[in-house]
Amino acid sequence: MSSQNIYILAIESSCDDTAASILLNGKVLSNIVASQKIHEEYGGVVPELASRAHQQNIVPVVHQAIEKAGITKEMLHAIAFTRGPGLMGSLLVGTSFAKSLAFGLDIPLIEVNHMQAHILAHFIDEAGFSKPPFPFLGMTISGGHTQIVKVSNYFEMEVIGETIDDAVGEAFDKSGKILGLGYPAGPEIDRRAKLGNPKAFPFTKPKVAGLNFSFSGLKTAILYFIQKQVKINPNFIEENLNDICASIQYTIIGILIDKLKLATKETGINHIAIGGGVSANSGIREALKNGEQKFGWTTYVPKFEFTTDNAAMIGIVGYLKYLDGDFTAQDVTASSRLKI
Ligand code: KG4
Ligand code: ZN
Repeated sequence: MSSQNIYILAIESSCDDTAASILLNGKVLSNIVASQKIHEEYGGVVPELASRAHQQNIVPVVHQAIEKAGITKEMLHAIAFTRGPGLMGSLLVGTSFAKSLAFGLDIPLIEVNHMQAHILAHFIDEAGFSKPPFPFLGMTISGGHTQIVKVSNYFEMEVIGETIDDAVGEAFDKSGKILGLGYPAGPEIDRRAKLGNPKAFPFTKPKVAGLNFSFSGLKTAILYFIQKQVKINPNFIEENLNDICASIQYTIIGILIDKLKLATKETGINHIAIGGGVSANSGIREALKNGEQKFGWTTYVPKFEFTTDNAAMIGIVGYLKYLDGDFTAQDVTASSRLKI
């Protein structure tokens, strides 16, 4: 791409992670994330607490990113930041910080769409990870998002399916809550699912037309099922926990794979790139791999630190926009419902 060395500082603060990263061209020099533990006691993200924690974290996190990259802020060419979508109070912290630092250093400001960034994270230069060719299908699955996006080029994207209620990560977390597991429950359900029988307790998959998803019905079905069983046997959960987790995970993966099959059929695109925290799930990874043989897909999973909310993914979009000269004026404001 460019023969010049371009240093970008990227800032991400859309939800409950305060993150900063330095990229040199497409390579990540530092990727710092301060996760907010405070939300664990509430079983979900509390917006007010999130923005307060961002305010406390942002200066040290940015400082650490610059220091770890071994550069000085005077060497930066631009500052990229998450404009949206996300929690308004959280976005405002990153947005105003990025604006004032870019103004102070007299360098360009670059707004980034968080959902585009989850997908373009695949274009970070990272040894051992290949980049998907255009066109491909991006599937972003996390605690906040569930989307299938047709990606024709870096900035030519179309959402072709998304959840109409809960995100897939919420389906894991809320099911875990019913079972008395800690928050977020996704990783523990994954761990226990490996030890259980996925067909022990069949749950029906929701019927949603086209490529959209729905997970709230599944959560209710699990709640009623557990309540009924516990009435019969008060120790039902403890005695069957691994099988229950395996059955829940099996159902959720089935929902995702069914929609991907439909998406590849409708678009004729067989390259699938996944992102978001749920892409860590061992069951979904295995199902995607099996699909390579069964359905002729090629699948792409980025390095784990670039799948969960992070600033490196914001930085790669910042770099691509920098090359296009696509800069943002100082009067920009955060946008909590920003669309792809
Ligand atoms: O991307 P992420 O770190 O944050 C956002 O939600 O934006 O994703 C967190 C979500 C949580 O819902 C968590 O339970 C889920 O990802 N998760 C998993 C696994 N690891 C994280 N879900 C299932 N299996 C996993 N191994
Ligand atoms: Zn995200």
